[in-house]
Amino acid sequence: MNFTNSLTKWYLQNKRDLPWRNTQNPYFIWLSEIMLQQTRVAQGMPYFFAFSTAFPTVFELANASEEQVLKLWQGLGYYSRARNLHKTAQKVAFELNGIFPTTYNDLLKLKGIGDYTAAAIASFSYNEAVPVVDGNVFRVLSRYFDIETDIASASAKKEFASIAFELMTKNARGGAELSEANPALFNQAIMEFGALQCVPKSPNCEICVLNSGCLALKRKKVGQLPVKSKK
Ligand code: ADE
Repeated sequence: MNFTNSLTKWYLQNKRDLPWRNTQNPYFIWLSEIMLQQTRVAQGMPYFFAFSTAFPTVFELANASEEQVLKLWQGLGYYSRARNLHKTAQKVAFELNGIFPTTYNDLLKLKGIGDYTAAAIASFSYNEAVPVVDGNVFRVLSRYFDIETDIASASAKKEFASIAFELMTKNARGGAELSEANPALFNQAIMEFGALQCVPKSPNCEICVLNSGCLALKRKKVGQLPVKSKK
């Protein structure tokens, strides 16, 4: 089996049941992805429940005071995230009739939504074929394909996004078992794989479903990848 098929099969058998995975509602996806920046899943989870309960739609969030929003955010840190969240909620609620933009490019125009978050919303909510590139994706792909590009460099995101795009859409570098591209599934799967299996330190490669094709494993370079310069 090729990379994408093995990866997605692994995901369906091993994924954590996380609340934002049981929805395609862009509001909840957006909320979860903003919260999970610089925050671990276990830490973010109670905040996600608190926010989605207090503000079940973008309108409640938009109509809340900044004080209320910051109060619920307390403990998560990086308070500019909460302020941007609130401002963007007001923009969506009052200027866009409560409807989130439906494409990667339009999502990018919103305050606080960068390429990662735009790709996450566009793929998870609308199944648009845009790869998410986060630390997990850098790690999994740099190891599997033995890519020594410095992930702190300016060009790294583009390079890895292009590889992920090929894997997600054309299932390149492998066979043709994938009957249909599923960007949402691919993106969730590769992030989860990085979080649970292809972990930064001492991954258990013996039980890894991708071990037969992993170039870093073959070349004994798992511990050296990804390459990240200190800046
Ligand atoms: N971290 C950031 N986004 C995530 C997601 N969608 N699922 C799990 N962990 C994440």
